[in-house]
Amino acid sequence: MTTSLPKYLQDQEGLSEECKNFFSVLPKEKGWAGSYIYYYQGFWALPRIIQGTIACQQQFHAQDSDIILVTSPKSGTTWLKSLLFVLVNRMKYPVFEQNHPLLVKNPHDIILFLESRLYGDGLVPNFASFTSPRLLSTHLPFASLPKSVQDSKTKLVYLCRNPKDTFISMWHFINNLRLHHKDIHPIEEKFESFCKGVSLYGPFWNHVLDYWKQSIEKPNKVLFLMYEEIKVQPKLQLKRLAEFLECPFSIEEENCGVMDEILRMCSFENLSNLEVNANGKFSTGEENKAFFRKGEVGDWKNYFTIEMSEKLNHIIEQKFQGSGIKFSYI
Ligand code: A3P
Repeated sequence: MTTSLPKYLQDQEGLSEECKNFFSVLPKEKGWAGSYIYYYQGFWALPRIIQGTIACQQQFHAQDSDIILVTSPKSGTTWLKSLLFVLVNRMKYPVFEQNHPLLVKNPHDIILFLESRLYGDGLVPNFASFTSPRLLSTHLPFASLPKSVQDSKTKLVYLCRNPKDTFISMWHFINNLRLHHKDIHPIEEKFESFCKGVSLYGPFWNHVLDYWKQSIEKPNKVLFLMYEEIKVQPKLQLKRLAEFLECPFSIEEENCGVMDEILRMCSFENLSNLEVNANGKFSTGEENKAFFRKGEVGDWKNYFTIEMSEKLNHIIEQKFQGSGIKFSYI
């Protein structure tokens, strides 16, 4: 019945009996994208992701020079992958050159997710082809990161987005993946799940708060960025990112417009119109364009009722009270 879904979304597809037994004792809820999501180590995920998480926790050895982008899904991962890649590799791939890799590859094929693209499906990644610093990404909550990531000097860049836009983006995304199905997820049903904390890698608030706390305790290890702040002050946030990664812009670069060019190259308009992103597909079948919808702040206003907005405001207030986190455009 679920055969038109990408393989990674199919519930327990291809899992061994042993794995099926493992999942049979985990709490489960009707799916976001797949048939069911399961609760493991304090977060909700698809079986394939949980398998990949375990493998990654057991096998991944972080290096001090690694840079890992962390996001809750639909927080702007694609954008930040692009910015990170172009920023860190600007000596190797000068931004003003025509044949830049970002112009011909989808950002998710450039910076790979640890628990899915690298360790999912029983894969054993070969890091030999990676150059230093290795750029990697994950949606895992802090507590589920491989121990070596937590203990090493590996830098973590966390990107957060306001929960209302994140929810709308996620709702569109999962419906988009189910285009060939008649059963589009009703927004009310998914909203209730999100509010209960049941969403991909959720609860959303735990994900954000854990990284926020880490960024305060270890500012050299974790940088906490906000999607909305990058939208409003892109140069300032890009500068922060470069300084955190110890590759600050030189005066010459600033004068030559390198920052402007990086931002232009990674803009929604530029990326979404590239042939690879407009018409390309992942090996798992999803269209690259699914990662480029609107790229705006405040789109939730086109979907939320007053009741939904008030309900989520109340939860946000409860969960983030006293933390110092301030969401804008909510
Ligand atoms: P919307 O659905 O609100 O448009 P992720 O990359 O974490 O999956 O998040 C996807 C969201 O980021 C989508 O939001 C997408 O449109 C937006 N996005 C993708 N590329 C972007 C870019 N270059 N600039 C700003 N937003 C971008």
